[in-house]
Amino acid sequence: MSFGRVVGVAVASAALVGVALGSSASAGPEVAQRHGQEAGPLVIGHRGASGYRPEHTLASYELAARMGADYIEPDLVSTKDGVLVARHEPEIGGTTDVAEHPEFASRKTTRDLDGVRVTGWFTDDFTLAELKTLRATERIPDLRQENTIHNGRYEVPTLQEVIDLKNRLSRELGRDIGIYPETKHPTYFQRLGLALEPKLVQALNRNGLNTPKAKVFVQSFEVANLKQLHRELRVPLVQLTSASGRPYDFTAAGDPRTYADIVSARGLKEVATYAAGVGPDKNQVITRDAAGNLAAPTALVADAHAAGLKVHPYTFRAENSFLPKDLRSDAVAADYGDLFGELRAFWRAGVDGVFSDNPDIAVASRAENFPRS
Ligand code: G3P
Ligand code: CA
Repeated sequence: MSFGRVVGVAVASAALVGVALGSSASAGPEVAQRHGQEAGPLVIGHRGASGYRPEHTLASYELAARMGADYIEPDLVSTKDGVLVARHEPEIGGTTDVAEHPEFASRKTTRDLDGVRVTGWFTDDFTLAELKTLRATERIPDLRQENTIHNGRYEVPTLQEVIDLKNRLSRELGRDIGIYPETKHPTYFQRLGLALEPKLVQALNRNGLNTPKAKVFVQSFEVANLKQLHRELRVPLVQLTSASGRPYDFTAAGDPRTYADIVSARGLKEVATYAAGVGPDKNQVITRDAAGNLAAPTALVADAHAAGLKVHPYTFRAENSFLPKDLRSDAVAADYGDLFGELRAFWRAGVDGVFSDNPDIAVASRAENFPRS
């Protein structure tokens, strides 16, 4: 274990203790903060606090909120019976114990997922009741061995359970915990007759969250479904972009535009007609040089701001494996490197929020770089 890992765990523990002490004093029905009123940029708990718990579990989301994240981020997929649940992908072989369930062995199959052949088990082949018999497991156990002690402890949560959790924690912590749901593979689910968008709109309406005052962002890597949601939702939308390739709905429609086109000054102006922000790969905000070191900021932040868009890049993680080479602590991929240094560079580049698997570190970094006056 590196020095960085020890510091990271200590920060996590301190954050938990601090919040636990503060919560009893501040518990109450009032919520102090509303969308857009945070001091400094936003911290979004990416898949919860997935640096410390198996991703997309209630335990991961709860830890993120207790660490001070402004938002928790469920990726949404559909079950066979049309219930939205939180998983990174429709394929769940790597994030649940489904392979250990002999009763589901025959469900293993190969699907075309956005033009890629993927083999495994898919949420759209399972009813919610069946999914609830599974338990979450750590997706990257080689990098996050400590998280594996939580394997088998947590269910796959529904969107409603995530909303219920955020409501409960908002009351307990005395601040409004936001949700930042992502529609995963919208075209894939539309083709199956399990469109995600109507269920998401229903859920937000049912919970009183389809209002500009609600602390909600909705994100997607596809464009057409965001444009559709723009007509149905009153919450801000975020266009996600990758460092390569194009939105799958563009591919399906024969539209040659790429994510690089979307983050051009012209592309961003079009995004601003239906979204309030962009969620780029962090390498689209600050590039890396040939050696893999952090290089210079691109024009993305300035161009997005000129178009009136917020910028929330992903994903900020403490392990060396995910850091620029010059911020790594050693050659061990799982050891912690200088995430504080990486975050500092992105705050200076002017980003309006970050998705982080280590929300405690992002919150601490924000406090250092944006001291409250
Ligand atoms: O939604 C922000 C970020 O999570 C996008 O990438 O693949 O981790 O959902 P992914
Ligand atoms: Ca996501």
